[in-house]
Amino acid sequence: KTEQRVEDLLSKMTLEEKAGQLNFVVGDLFNTGPTVRTSESDKFNEAIRKGEITGIFNIHGAAYTGKLQKLAVEESRLGIPLLIGADVIHGFKTVFPIPLGEAASWDLTAIEKSARVAAKESAASGINLTFAPMADVARDARWGRTAEGAGEDPYLVSLITAARVKGFQGNSLSDPLTIAACVKHFVAYGAAEAGRDYNTVDMSEYELRNTYLPPFKAALDAGSATLMTAFNELNGVPATAHTKVMRQILRDEWGFNGLVISDWQNIWEMTSHGYAQDNAHAGELALKAGTDLDMMAEIYLKELPQLVKSGKVEQKYLDDAVRRVLWLKFKLGLFDNPYLYSNTKTEKKQVRSKEHLQAAFEVAQRSIVLLKNENTLLPLSASKKQKIAVIGPLGNNKEDMNGTWSFFGEAQHPVSFLEGIKKYAKGTEITYAEGCELYSDSRAKFDEAVAAAKKADIVVMAIGESAVMNGEGASRANISLPGVQLDLVKAIHATGKPIIALVSSGRALELTWLDENIPTILATWSLGSEAGNAAASVLFGEYNPSGKLPVSFPRSVGQLPLYYNHKNTGRVYEGDHSEPGSERVYKSRYRDVPNTALYPFGYGLSYTTFKYDNLKLSTDKLAPAGQLQVSIDVTNTGKYAGEEVIQLYTRDLVGSITRPVKELKKFQKLTFTPGEKKTVMFTLTPEDLAFWRADLTYGTEPGDFKVFVGPNSRDVQEVSFTLLKDGSVKYESSI
Ligand code: IFM
Repeated sequence: KTEQRVEDLLSKMTLEEKAGQLNFVVGDLFNTGPTVRTSESDKFNEAIRKGEITGIFNIHGAAYTGKLQKLAVEESRLGIPLLIGADVIHGFKTVFPIPLGEAASWDLTAIEKSARVAAKESAASGINLTFAPMADVARDARWGRTAEGAGEDPYLVSLITAARVKGFQGNSLSDPLTIAACVKHFVAYGAAEAGRDYNTVDMSEYELRNTYLPPFKAALDAGSATLMTAFNELNGVPATAHTKVMRQILRDEWGFNGLVISDWQNIWEMTSHGYAQDNAHAGELALKAGTDLDMMAEIYLKELPQLVKSGKVEQKYLDDAVRRVLWLKFKLGLFDNPYLYSNTKTEKKQVRSKEHLQAAFEVAQRSIVLLKNENTLLPLSASKKQKIAVIGPLGNNKEDMNGTWSFFGEAQHPVSFLEGIKKYAKGTEITYAEGCELYSDSRAKFDEAVAAAKKADIVVMAIGESAVMNGEGASRANISLPGVQLDLVKAIHATGKPIIALVSSGRALELTWLDENIPTILATWSLGSEAGNAAASVLFGEYNPSGKLPVSFPRSVGQLPLYYNHKNTGRVYEGDHSEPGSERVYKSRYRDVPNTALYPFGYGLSYTTFKYDNLKLSTDKLAPAGQLQVSIDVTNTGKYAGEEVIQLYTRDLVGSITRPVKELKKFQKLTFTPGEKKTVMFTLTPEDLAFWRADLTYGTEPGDFKVFVGPNSRDVQEVSFTLLKDGSVKYESSI
């Protein structure tokens, strides 16, 4: 029995060995900080022998990790194997689109498969734990880590986070081709003030429970073995020492028994937050609050034995944390076979296999969002004799296609847009001009690009952000195209040639000028290994785009945070911000920009068109134990086959706390042949309408509701019903 094996081992451990089991250190990849040890150095090896390290992260390689496991198992006193962790965020050597891009597919099967592939490749390279998925709801595009999550909506983020957990962990943690997931960052990290990374968060418990906590609950319900604390403080307390969220909510209410890992040096940072007096105090606060593992601060290793001896920390806190580490190592199968994940033959077979690259290609196709297609410039004909100029700093760029957090993907591997276009456009003359660098202010290459555009029939502009402009520590105060890229677009636009813009980014960008002037725009995120092939397959119509935005694209950075599921306010303004006389309107609005998004949440076009009509409810009265069928007819009215994401939102008109103007409750992604009509059915139950109420209980409230169905959060049809009685609902995630 695992419990017995854990207890036997625990009983043999010294205080120092226990503290060692809570010390998680980085390998070579991020070898920059003062406390970092070089993984190949004698000191590092010696620490393994002495049992001072529970595991190493951000290293890989079957042979290398096998060597380290051998040291731990054969040369340390108790022979405890190592956790080998890594940020396997969107693929391993086969790189998938960044998580925000994948979220735009609204395709849970494809997303789960992406995580399966990442697990297979990384597990075969010795890794047994990934620091993913990120479950943070992100509503401020300035925040760089928006790229790593699934967007602004708690329901969509919940479903996607759960799919990723299932993909990483499969059916059994001890399967040599699965890895343990670590849902992060607990909690409310996505609400960092002003979108500045690591910044302060102050929010009501309602907002926390209704918006920011649900994706974590979903991940844990899906079985995530571990969880990572956040860098931010929440209501005055650093998340890593937040007893309320970790002891009360996570452990007591949700019953989570898995391992809680701090983020990088989080425990140490509590002194900087002004919450702990010194390292010992920080260690005491973090352990007591429920942080089991110390990532990179080495405070537990150095301080815990003394804290226990002096009686400041009861031994049970230390023992419980160690139990959870040992439990995970047993569950991963490491005690039965420490080399389970370090198999050079499997590694060779799995990494960048044909099948994996095909999966990355398919997800990348589904992640692309068609934002505008005026005069149906797209799809292009692959056989037509035409000259295409590919222009822009991301046109012939491989490395940035890998996107943020893709340490294992090699820079030379991705297919660039230029390569993809050349492959698909048989019989077409393709030229390329860089035009400008990603973020320099030099216009020196503009003339060459303008000349290339003049000679072409069509221009494909590949513009946007570099990989390092998003992810951790990569917040931006200005979210327009970096450097002089917009000026480059204007210069090319002045030639009068038709432009198709491929806009890559790890966040919603401010694209107002582009929207007003460029006929065709696609959001191409960072698409990973198969970027060029996926984009070209869409440009030439082999794949009809089906992506829908998981975040609202603002008209101006000044609108942020911007999200569709906002509150109504007491002074709603639905007029045009610029209408005559509107200067003296005392309403909730801006004087210079409309309140609405440029491209709303859930938005995305197709080469075909869809008609929505005949929205109906099975009843307009919903009883507490009853259900409601919502039906709508959707018809493909265009000439291409295509997929559509049919979205259902509700609004609770009056609540004991005010309710959002819309909330996504259901969606279906369906395929339609030209002319095909489907009656799409959804079932709504009172559980779907539950929320954390004024008295902080979870349940429903009687009253009138609206149901909206449509192709995005803006262009919807609506009907109404009444929920007859209130009721308590058991809090469960939406998965
Ligand atoms: O997993 C990450 C985390 O998301 C941010 N800080 C560093 C960790 C380990 O690399």
